[in-house]
Amino acid sequence: MKALVLIGGFGTRLRPITYSVPKQLIPIAGKPMLYHVLDLLPPEVDEAVLATGYKADAIEAYVRAHPPRLAVRTITETEPLGTGGGMRNAGDTMSDPFVLLNSDVIADVDTADMIREHRRHGGVGTMSLAEVDDTKPYGVAALGEKDRIVRFVEKPEPADAPSHWINAGVGVWNAKVLERIPRGRPVSFETEILPGLLAIGVYGHRLHGFWEDAGTPERLLHAQRLLFDAGRGGTATLPPGASGRGPAAVGDGVVANGGLFGPYVTLGEDVVIESGARVEDCVVMDGARIGANAVVAHALVGPRCLVPPGERVEGKIWATGLAGSPAAQPA
Ligand code: GDD
Ligand code: MG
Repeated sequence: MKALVLIGGFGTRLRPITYSVPKQLIPIAGKPMLYHVLDLLPPEVDEAVLATGYKADAIEAYVRAHPPRLAVRTITETEPLGTGGGMRNAGDTMSDPFVLLNSDVIADVDTADMIREHRRHGGVGTMSLAEVDDTKPYGVAALGEKDRIVRFVEKPEPADAPSHWINAGVGVWNAKVLERIPRGRPVSFETEILPGLLAIGVYGHRLHGFWEDAGTPERLLHAQRLLFDAGRGGTATLPPGASGRGPAAVGDGVVANGGLFGPYVTLGEDVVIESGARVEDCVVMDGARIGANAVVAHALVGPRCLVPPGERVEGKIWATGLAGSPAAQPA
């Protein structure tokens, strides 16, 4: 079986970091969110086709340098085709059925069980559904008998939301749904294609474990806490010479002698934490340096960025020194 992974979108809500790094390569709980997504695939899936666009070269280079446990192949859009357009563009060699994954969700989905359920009910699609309070940023499903989806509304106003069960971004689809997507133009799968599939049988698969869309700084840090709490945060130990408590996921080459750690920290490769600096509930990307006695909490620090000694970075993105765009420069 194969999987199709949607990796487009500009990551606007994570700018300016996403001017230099695609959202899917931002590390959380020790590895890029894309790799947590690939972890969801059961052993029977032997290849993932990555439908890429924005910063496709960076994705390609990263997966070559850090091969995931299953084969991956990238198919790149020359212009963004949307979710449906990306599926159509990359879907020519899909298996029947195939697994469809959004690349920015953290989920506790049993995909092997989903595939079994999909085969059992005999519909064209099975979508993992998460229960959330605020449905507005998501696609919302109304469920009928045996959890058949009877209505689907993408990003409804609260009054129009038919339930609190939202598209969790993990699905199993029969290959024939791809034929319904027009080629060569942008298409939203959720708004243009999915509603028309309901008549031929799309079922919900309710998720009872954790779920988060990691597309904003707050939600990304929440996703990281969920992963660490679920034991999916790598080695979860502090670097030599540091004090405080984890969990922490620490990249190769990190120097943190005299650093103070609070829970839920990811440090990329070659990060330097100077003496007396405190880090907690944060992601500090490759090559960044946190100056002596600085504080980084509930925050993201971009690659090779510099937090000056004594600075407090709390509840925000710190991107001073980030290469890639004039807009990334500090105001
Ligand atoms: N290849 C490709 N091309 N992929 C794309 C494109 C594109 O033009 N646009 C977006 N994607 C990818 C994104 O990288 C992401 O993995 C996925 O498709 C969904 O796009 P988002 O931009 O993150 O959409 P969203 O979060 O607003 O809504 C989607 O996800 C929700 C769950 O997180 C929808 O599928 C909702 O129904 C769903 O509830
Ligand atoms: Mg998203």
